[in-house]
Amino acid sequence: MVTVNATTQRVWVDAAATPDFAPGPVGWMDVVTLAEKAVRVTFAYDAAYLARPDAYAVSPELPLEPGPQALGSMPGAFVDSSADSWGQKLIRRQLRAEGVSLLSEVHALLGVSDEARTGGFRFRELPTAGEEAYVADRAAQVPVVLDLRDLRAAADRTRAGVSSSEQAIAELLDAGTAVLGGARPKALVRRKGRALLAKFPAPDDEHDAIRWEAVSLHLAHAAGLATSRVRTIEIGKHAVLLVDRFDRVGKADAAAAEPGNAGELRIPYWSARTATEDGRDYLDVARVIRGMDAPRDVMRAQLRDLWRRVAFAVAVHCTDDHLRNLGFLRREAAWRLCPVFDVEPDPVQERPRSTAIVGVVDPDAAPAALIALAGELGIKTSSWKRSLAQVLAAVGSWPDVAKRVGLAEDEFAAMDAAIGHRRDALATLLA
Ligand SMILES: Nc1ncnc2c1ncn2[C@@H]1O[C@H](COP(=O)(O)OP(=O)(O)OP(=O)(O)O)[C@@H](O)[C@H]1O
Ligand SMILES: [Mg+2]
Repeated sequence: MVTVNATTQRVWVDAAATPDFAPGPVGWMDVVTLAEKAVRVTFAYDAAYLARPDAYAVSPELPLEPGPQALGSMPGAFVDSSADSWGQKLIRRQLRAEGVSLLSEVHALLGVSDEARTGGFRFRELPTAGEEAYVADRAAQVPVVLDLRDLRAAADRTRAGVSSSEQAIAELLDAGTAVLGGARPKALVRRKGRALLAKFPAPDDEHDAIRWEAVSLHLAHAAGLATSRVRTIEIGKHAVLLVDRFDRVGKADAAAAEPGNAGELRIPYWSARTATEDGRDYLDVARVIRGMDAPRDVMRAQLRDLWRRVAFAVAVHCTDDHLRNLGFLRREAAWRLCPVFDVEPDPVQERPRSTAIVGVVDPDAAPAALIALAGELGIKTSSWKRSLAQVLAAVGSWPDVAKRVGLAEDEFAAMDAAIGHRRDALATLLA
């Protein structure tokens, strides 16, 4: 019988420099791991952090209190800055080379390169602070960092017939084609020092998910929702999605890091899953927004924004709307909904939604549920009807946008059925 012993690892947490928050220590945590799972986490805020007038709870489960706080799992905000499934694949490969077969939640947290990790926290395995102490250092390359010129060069190579698109992508990601299966690869892309996120196709994608995501983001923008700047780059027959990182501002290059120039700043991020502490319904998100202690007009604008997002997801039949695909950014001492990301129509018409709308996940019942949601959020009929009209007008333009993004017309029929079906049902609400 193989027995696995529990191990304990201490991790120090720092706040990165943000546009409105000075960097500094936040606290430490001891993570007890059994096999791959963090089974007990003890977190304590640094006294200096608690003394800051601008201190905020780093994660909803960790109120601003002195002394150790015990949790049964990793705080949500730190899960949000851990490796995604692609990053975990890369970390697993590195661990295997070191003879380690299990990938723990601490590996997933500390294995992401500090430069690329989501949000505003940085992590150390050493008690002493300093730029070089942050894990993982750049050399780990999880995920890889590319210059936009690398992507353009790969595109040129495939165009010139030097390599296939699969080869070019595998080379770019330093992955080997075998690693590419399953998770959708991502990379940090630098363009004149600015940070972008690149999403690559997975070889087992059944349809052109990358281009459909680009289409959906363009439509979301036209529907009046905040989106990051989006574009695609063609590498042979594949498209790579490039979006500006919403959790970074400023430049990271050497010139920008000179004294007197702030260089790259980070924006703290909580997924809605973290913010709601594992909520399952948009009402949970609304509860979080109402609890955020914002001026009344700001709070109401956030609730209207939430409603419009849900209506948009219904209209494009995006069913992968789990609460890690929605998030909050912290600006000027307040959490606000972040730009829309990871939206894509689902060709399977009857697939249930991932997050309930007032208890409803059945896509056929979504229009009625949207009316109920407007009621729960205190949005007047005239107001949600205006939002819905804008959403439907934007979504109606999808064939033009899909052509512009370069989608093959043989992909249109399935999406036409999925999107058209939902849009027609929503249009009856305006009649
Ligand atoms: N524009 C962005 N700026 C900063 N962070 C982003 C941005 N878009 C996404 N992210 C972060 O990266 C994570 C992964 O992105 P995304 O949700 O698009 O990919 P995914 O869930 O792996 O995608 P898929 O399910 O399509 O493979 C998100 O959960 C979010 O934390
Ligand atoms: Mg996602």
